[in-house]
Amino acid sequence: MNAPAATSAATPMSAFAARRARLCAAMAPGAVAILATAPEVARNSDADYPYRHDSHFYYLTGFTEPDSVLVLVAARAERAAQAILFCRQKNPEREIWDGLRHGPEGARAAFGFDAAFPIEELDTEMARLLANAPAAYYALGHSAALDLQMKTWLGAVRRQARAGVTAPSVAHDLFALVDEMRLFKDDSEQQTMLRAATISGHAHARAMRATRAGMHEYEIEAELLHEFRRNGAQFPAYTPIVASGANACILHYNANNARTRDGDLVLIDAGCELDSYAADITRTYPVNGRFSPAQRSLYELVLAAQDAAMDAVRPGRRYSDFHDAAVKVLAQGMLDLGLLPRAGFASVDDVIAERAHQQFYMHGTGHWLGLDVHDVGAYRDLAQDDKPSRLLQAGMVVTVEPGIYVRPAEGVPEQFWNIGIRIEDDVLLTPDGHTVLSAAAPKRIAEIEQLMRQP
Ligand code: GLY
Ligand code: MN
Ligand code: MN
Repeated sequence: MNAPAATSAATPMSAFAARRARLCAAMAPGAVAILATAPEVARNSDADYPYRHDSHFYYLTGFTEPDSVLVLVAARAERAAQAILFCRQKNPEREIWDGLRHGPEGARAAFGFDAAFPIEELDTEMARLLANAPAAYYALGHSAALDLQMKTWLGAVRRQARAGVTAPSVAHDLFALVDEMRLFKDDSEQQTMLRAATISGHAHARAMRATRAGMHEYEIEAELLHEFRRNGAQFPAYTPIVASGANACILHYNANNARTRDGDLVLIDAGCELDSYAADITRTYPVNGRFSPAQRSLYELVLAAQDAAMDAVRPGRRYSDFHDAAVKVLAQGMLDLGLLPRAGFASVDDVIAERAHQQFYMHGTGHWLGLDVHDVGAYRDLAQDDKPSRLLQAGMVVTVEPGIYVRPAEGVPEQFWNIGIRIEDDVLLTPDGHTVLSAAAPKRIAEIEQLMRQP
């Protein structure tokens, strides 16, 4: 299934407003939801870590300034739902140093809120907004600061009890509602994710083309970052892994400072973040452009496992099915290639039952992908008593990322020692199957070898 051509489509303001309206419709009538964005974090004096807004907050607002809070009031009887933003005031002095601040009125007009206030007025306004509201929705237990603020606001409401004012008597976890919305990507999200994955796929191809034996892993990383940034991606979506040789058997290796050697493989797990959406792609290729026979046989095995997994990525199948499909192929391959002793197991099912495959394949085969690289959303059907793995549906995006990692061990054929391979793609569920968003990254052996032969 081929990926459609990438196009750039920023999310229209109407899409954020529609999400807020859907959330309000799912809340109890008259209930109030509170959601703060992420704080700025100091790195050391006068230098902050690069600012990244909170994903839930962004999903509902499109607003990327720090020190902002969204409050939603669900419709009740004759009163329509309301979306209220609290944000920094305009400040000509600070704007000289740090750039534009929309200010409440500018933000209200540009982002389509019903009202906006300076962030300094949050405490006063919350005491007003929570008065007589039947329920509050917020991120229960996620932030000690917010829990404390809620205590202050509810205290202020309760002090008006003699006047007949009531405080919310029920608190709900806001994330339970928003996580489920974020799991299903709308058209503009799908377009952005395709573009993030396409830029990232081209970055992998660029890294392959640039690789020469003797280069450091960080020089290859620089090729990835160059390609991300020159295409407008704001950040890597997570710290890139550029792992050559035995480093590929360290799952979260990211020192990226070793020198590559002729005859080794390089495993790269890297994706950009574009307009707040993550790509997450892994490719593994030979430093010298030609797979050795041992590398080839393990690579073909992982590719076969990924192909089998992809077959199970379609609406109606369960989330766990594609992992099970990959494990079955990998475990059979481990027996066929002598990584596991044939004599030790009656069948491949026996290998899986004893979890013997986990010596070489110890992680899951995917996760939800979206605003966060490990995106939100339940993996199980929580409405059923036995909470089975949930059914896949159109609009979800998953990664499919089988691998094999062979550490030296007695009984394991030496030709496979220190080979680590993972192949990871980003896959959008469609009504009749799926689309691979990351198809721009070469994956078949012939494709990779041909690309690397080019001068
Ligand atoms: N890059 C993180 C992951 O593959 O899950
Ligand atoms: Mn992943
Ligand atoms: Mn990854």
